[in-house]
Parts: sequence; structure tokens; C-alpha cells
Amino acid sequence: MTAPVIRMDRVTRRFGANVLAVDNMTLDIQPGEFVSFLGPSGCGKSTALKMIAGLLPVSAGTIEIAKSTGASEHDLAFVFQEPTLMPWATVFDNVFLPLRLAGMKRREAEPRVMAILAEVGLTKFAQSYPRTLSGGMKMRVSIARAMVTRPRILLMDEPFAALDEMTRSKLNNDVVRLAKELGLTVIFVTHSVFEAVYLSTRIIVMAARPGRVAADIPMQTPWPRDENWRTSPAFATEAQRVSDILKGTLHVDDLDH
Ligand SMILES: Nc1ncnc2c1ncn2[C@@H]1O[C@H](COP(=O)(O)OP(=O)(O)O)[C@@H](O)[C@H]1O
Ligand SMILES: [Mg+2]
Repeated sequence: MTAPVIRMDRVTRRFGANVLAVDNMTLDIQPGEFVSFLGPSGCGKSTALKMIAGLLPVSAGTIEIAKSTGASEHDLAFVFQEPTLMPWATVFDNVFLPLRLAGMKRREAEPRVMAILAEVGLTKFAQSYPRTLSGGMKMRVSIARAMVTRPRILLMDEPFAALDEMTRSKLNNDVVRLAKELGLTVIFVTHSVFEAVYLSTRIIVMAARPGRVAADIPMQTPWPRDENWRTSPAFATEAQRVSDILKGTLHVDDLDH
């Protein structure tokens, strides 16, 4: 067994006196795992992800991120639900931003920016402005901007929730392909059972009040999967199994809406 990339040990996060957003979360994530955090709204998925990213302090417990080695230069990158692009800058400049902030010259960065734009299918749009792009294309820019720093760990917080289903399945396939090609460790937050089952090598089911890990489900189906699997009876069986586990963790009032 290799050393985990991410190690959460009894991590707790409170907001004020009454909200226990994440309670006593212990979790080891191995290199190359594609882990989904799956659960209803309010179960602490975003809070857990932000603590892993170092964007939010823990109230108790520890989170260790293994130090970067080899080709990757950065430990982690974060993709939010909103693409949050700079509207006045071209696609190229939006993706160049993190490298520019790290002090890299434009000429030096150009091959890297163009390579990652090619990976997400946006070569022809390098000089376009965000307002001219569809929602799916904006999200591709956001993913390229995260990947251009060559992180080992990619954290994604419901990145495709606002997209239509066709676009969403295309982006699902692209993210899995990138993760596989680049040997990334991914944590993907979603409240969609189908998305979690399709994407993941492992699903962490979370429950609310207090936010906690309710189940840790390794997925047996070989990864990555393809579009044929998405419509297969085996996929439906897996989705049913995970859905039953998820339902078992829900409160009655979670089921109201
Ligand atoms: N900054 C904050 N201040 C107060 N309460 C918060 C804050 N962020 C999250 N919470 C609360 O913590 C709980 C978990 O929230 P969150 O991690 O956003 O859940 P999820 O991402 O699973 O929907 C919720 O009850 C939410 O209202
Ligand atoms: Mg959230």
C-alpha cells in the first residue's frame, strides 16, 4: 500500500455554536483515486473540500497533504461550480493567469497554455472572450486554468451542476480522461448518484446534521468507463445500490424536496 495523498484524521468544523458542518471525518485517499463526495445539500461536502484545499481552517483534527514530487509543481487545484472567468480577458489570458501570478513570462507559458487548451478542445477559442462561449465551454476554460499549474490533486465542487445533461456527460468523460492521463487524484463533489457512480473509483456518502461520512463504497467496475456502460444494466444496478445506501442515511426532512 502506498502512502495516502490526503489524510484526514478526525476532522471537525463548526460554524458558531449550533452548526456542526463536518463531524469527526477520518479518510485516507490514495494516489490516483477518483473519489466522489455524495450527499444531500447541507451535509458538509463543500466545507470538507474547502478544508482539504486549505481555504477554511478546521475546528479540530488534522489534514495532511503529501508533499509534491516529480513532474507536478503544485499540490492542488480547485474548480468551483461557477467558472469565475475574467470577462475582459481572452480564454488564453484566463488560463495564463495562474502562471502569470507565479511569475512566468508569456512566451514561456504559451506552449503550456496552448497544450492544456488542446486537451479541453478549446484551441480555436484561445483568442475568444468568455461572453462568446457556452456554459460548457466556460467550464472547460475553468478546468484548463486549474490544470495548467500541473496539480497532483484536483478538487471539484459540483462543477457541472448548472450544465445541461449532454454537456455534463461530455465533461464527465473529459475529466476522467484528464485524470487518467495526468495521474491525478480527484475529489469530486456531487449530489447526483448517477454522476458519482459513472465517474468514481470510490464514493464517500455523506449525511447531514451533523455532516459526516455515512458510507465508504469502493466501486468494483473497471475504471475509466465509457458511454456504453452508462446505459448498461450493470450501471443501473450500481446506481440502485448506491442510491439505497444514500437513502438509508437521509433524514425524513431531507426527502421533502
Ligand atoms: N460560512 C458559513 N457560516 C455558517 N454556516 C455555514 C457556512 N458554510 C456552511 N455552513 C453550514 O454548514 C453546513 C454544511 O454546509 P456545506 O458544506 O456548504 O454543505 P454542502 O456543500 O454539502 O451543501 C450547512 O448547514 C451550512 O448551512
Ligand atoms: Mg456545497
